Amino acid sequence: MVEAVTGTIRQPHQTWSNWPTFIMAVAGSAVGLGNIWKFPYITGENGGGAFVIVYLVCIAAIGLPVMIAEIMLGRRGRLSPVNSMVELAKDSNRSHRWGLLGVMMMLAAFLILSFYSVIAGWAIPYIGHAVSGAFNGATPKEVGGIFGGLLASPGQLLLWHTIFMLLTVGVSASGVKGGIERAVTILMPGLFVLLVVLIVYNLIADSSSFVKALGFLFDPDFSKLTADAVLTAIGHAFFTLSIAGGAVFAYGSYLERSTSIASTSFAIAIIDTLVALMAGMAIFPIVFANGLEPGAGPGLVFVTLPIAFGKMPAGQIVGALFFVMLVVAAWTSSISMLEAIVEWLQERGMGRAAASASVAGAAWLLGLTTVLSLNEWKEFHPLGFIKRFDGKTLFDLYDFLTANIMLPLGALLMAVFAGWIMSRQDTEDELAMGSGYAFWRILIRYVAPIGIGVIFVANLW
Ligand code: TRP
Repeated sequence: MVEAVTGTIRQPHQTWSNWPTFIMAVAGSAVGLGNIWKFPYITGENGGGAFVIVYLVCIAAIGLPVMIAEIMLGRRGRLSPVNSMVELAKDSNRSHRWGLLGVMMMLAAFLILSFYSVIAGWAIPYIGHAVSGAFNGATPKEVGGIFGGLLASPGQLLLWHTIFMLLTVGVSASGVKGGIERAVTILMPGLFVLLVVLIVYNLIADSSSFVKALGFLFDPDFSKLTADAVLTAIGHAFFTLSIAGGAVFAYGSYLERSTSIASTSFAIAIIDTLVALMAGMAIFPIVFANGLEPGAGPGLVFVTLPIAFGKMPAGQIVGALFFVMLVVAAWTSSISMLEAIVEWLQERGMGRAAASASVAGAAWLLGLTTVLSLNEWKEFHPLGFIKRFDGKTLFDLYDFLTANIMLPLGALLMAVFAGWIMSRQDTEDELAMGSGYAFWRILIRYVAPIGIGVIFVANLW
């Protein structure tokens, strides 16, 4: 038996200004399209209530402890995910191959960024539509037409995808500390307020649809729950908290030792979950009031909310503000997706700006395949010969591969590393969370690995 060696305490190459900045940055990463675009549409596709409960359990019992582990690994390693994992494995006399976990996380972030930018791009023209009054009094059919027109046009999609990626590089290249932190402090609370406005509007405009929506979201019918839905729920728990893409890992590597990882993670998980549930309450009442289909898929937000904006007082302003904030929420997330790879390239001697630009450039290029998946290549289903991937476009496959496979696998391996490979002294010292530590340790050693493992295995049948 080799005695557990206590790992080195390393110094960071740069740190956050203070802990609220760190919370803002991680919350900015976590709150994004996952909450407002993806959560409502996958909830709609998977039948509502039961799916939401599984998602909430996954966040609390698995997502949160793994988030704590990921930030901890970053702060202990003080380097990009790959190099941190190599160093931390060395501390515990384990193989440098743990570095591959870092590689997989960076790859996941890269793949996600490539399509994330395309989707975020959809929201940009919607700002203009809202301001110009294009939604005023629009019927569901007209709003659907606007969305359909956007998806059918590779040229438009390319333009907005390019603009969004340029925004992302713009901030990432100059370091995260600059303008974005300040912008986020105003805009994120703004998003929150707008969601409240929409919810209150729904309640007043049509309370019976509102009640129906609450029933849909919170009244579980477990007979509708499939193994696939459970995998989607756990995958989304990781996606929405930005886990296993190296983003919070990299952010953790810049974190002061005095900040409590557990309490900041807890706060972030609460904020993130609230925003998702609020988005559901903003969207589903409109779905039911207008006889729309909850399982409409990725276009859900873009064909429901405009209907409400078109009817409510000051809807042009509220609508425009909403899409501005959606873009900003996505922006602070996409910046975080670059960070792990940029940090790694910097460690290899590349300049910050060159690193940001080259990663974003490559993701932009891959994003073109997502642009085409929405129109010209809509009928191209590369893995169609496998039953479960039948009808899935390249974009659908990137989404499935990252959220349902790479993120849960990365989370599983981080849980094993933090719970079983690192010494107890090291994790206890790094987390300094007092009596909560024992609880975290049970979650990370047993609940998270077993939970993720069982869901994976159940999905193989
Ligand atoms: N959490 C973000 C959202 O919900 C997406 C995101 C940002 C992400 N960084 C990530 C997902 C890293 C996985 C990995 O929109």
